[in-house]
Amino acid sequence: MNHGLVPKPEAVVSVFDHGFLYGDGIYETMRAYEGVLFMLDNHLSRLFRSASMIRLSIPKDRDQIKSALYDTLKANSLRNAFVRLTVSRGRGPIGLDPDLCSEPTFIIITEQMKDYPRSYYQHGIRTIIAETRRNSKEAINPQIKSLNFLNNILAKIEAKERDAYESLMLNTNGHLTEGTISNVFLYKDRVLCTPSLSCGILDGITRGVVLDLAVKEGLHVKEGEFSKEDIYMAHEVFITNSTTEVMPVSTVDEVQFPVGEVTKLLHRAYQEEVRAYVSRTKGEGPSVWGYE
Ligand code: PDD
Repeated sequence: MNHGLVPKPEAVVSVFDHGFLYGDGIYETMRAYEGVLFMLDNHLSRLFRSASMIRLSIPKDRDQIKSALYDTLKANSLRNAFVRLTVSRGRGPIGLDPDLCSEPTFIIITEQMKDYPRSYYQHGIRTIIAETRRNSKEAINPQIKSLNFLNNILAKIEAKERDAYESLMLNTNGHLTEGTISNVFLYKDRVLCTPSLSCGILDGITRGVVLDLAVKEGLHVKEGEFSKEDIYMAHEVFITNSTTEVMPVSTVDEVQFPVGEVTKLLHRAYQEEVRAYVSRTKGEGPSVWGYE
């Protein structure tokens, strides 16, 4: 927290923190495999981009953040971990003006990575198309990975009320965007489709890796605008994020999907990419990030 390691019970923020009062802040969720943070540079680039989009100046540079991340993993003896980095506007008097806060609050949380139930990957997860629309990019751009998550939470509540694990959201034009914590892909007529950034989505790091892998595997790829009907008519559907990797979808509303070959192929390719990344990073010598 801020300048050092703090035991979990003492890791608390002020009730005057603008992250708490207004959701004013940003974050990144990453996954460490064998002591290596996968795609760390991409996560840090996105963190700094989110910060600049809300005019937040992060009080550390990239190398200081990398050290802090690995120090936290080491302090907790974690090699396969869930890692969350949060930077809020900081503590200040009540009021929206960011200048009321003199110093951002900087927090790293690491937890042992808990595997998702195997059945999620074997049979897929249930999803719905939420009534809640993804907030428009002209209101709060989903490319800001912000602490302001109520839009996603409202969609998650709908999913829970309909016995589903994830909600997929449409934008205000009726085009598919993303899940509450994930990007979405559909495979149809031999083309791997995913909503384009212009639909108003987070440019997920896993999404980017999967798109590159799909091209390498010789699949046709299309980023564009897709409707609710396009997803209902798909042959395979899956979601992606940094912790779940590639997770098959078994139902969207009442429509069922098999866990198809393309989904399985891309999940295998993703895990292979992680292995290659980890051994490359470790093989680069003592100066690189990661720990034994
Ligand atoms: N969520 N879309 C949204 C709205 C997200 O919150 C996330 C990630 C993604 C996928 O992004 P990535 O592939 O970079 O993880 C897409 C993280 C996991 C979270 O909220 O903890």
